[in-house]
Amino acid sequence: MSPLFRRAFIVLGASALVVAMAFAFAWYFAGENREIRTGEVTRTGTAAIGGSFSLVDQHGVRRSEADFAGKYLLIYFGFTHCVDACPVALLSMSQALDRLPPEIAGEVQPLFITVDPARDDPAQIALYLENFHPTMVGLTGTAAEIGAAAKAYRVPFDAPKPDENGDYQVQHGTAIYLMAPDGSYLAHFDHVTPPGEIAQALQRYVEGGA
Ligand code: NI
Repeated sequence: MSPLFRRAFIVLGASALVVAMAFAFAWYFAGENREIRTGEVTRTGTAAIGGSFSLVDQHGVRRSEADFAGKYLLIYFGFTHCVDACPVALLSMSQALDRLPPEIAGEVQPLFITVDPARDDPAQIALYLENFHPTMVGLTGTAAEIGAAAKAYRVPFDAPKPDENGDYQVQHGTAIYLMAPDGSYLAHFDHVTPPGEIAQALQRYVEGGA
């Protein structure tokens, strides 16, 4: 093989590799059955993430952000039929709270907001939350109310067409948001953030009075 041919082959091979990697990357982030990975979130500025909501908790009581004023909120959007990130995220949140001294954990209110209000009524959410931290509050609402809450927290979600059994997995963002007692955004984690890391951050924020 002449040097020119060899070089051409190397360039071709490298190009093919780059294209293959780009496809793999695109598949990973946009694959149909994958959760939507957490996007970039700015840590500067105010009011970029968060806002008012009016939803119904697992006991059927209407709740708004005002009900949780003065608490640090640890908020996750998901759905009870999720077989991917949701159980992991909610378990991490629960374990993080378990690791904290009661006086610190008591300042933090964990919230689970469904992105699947069609299936997640208060009773379904109450059943699901038995698996997680006892202080966790689960919220549902009309499609419009859920849409507004998800928009405020910049959580993308999309439900595909149900399969022949009527089942479906909602694609959704997997950020776990930490909000300050005044409702402003402090930090975010993900379903893969170790509980110890979440616990440390919570302790730091609560003790620092941020
Ligand atoms: Ni999920």
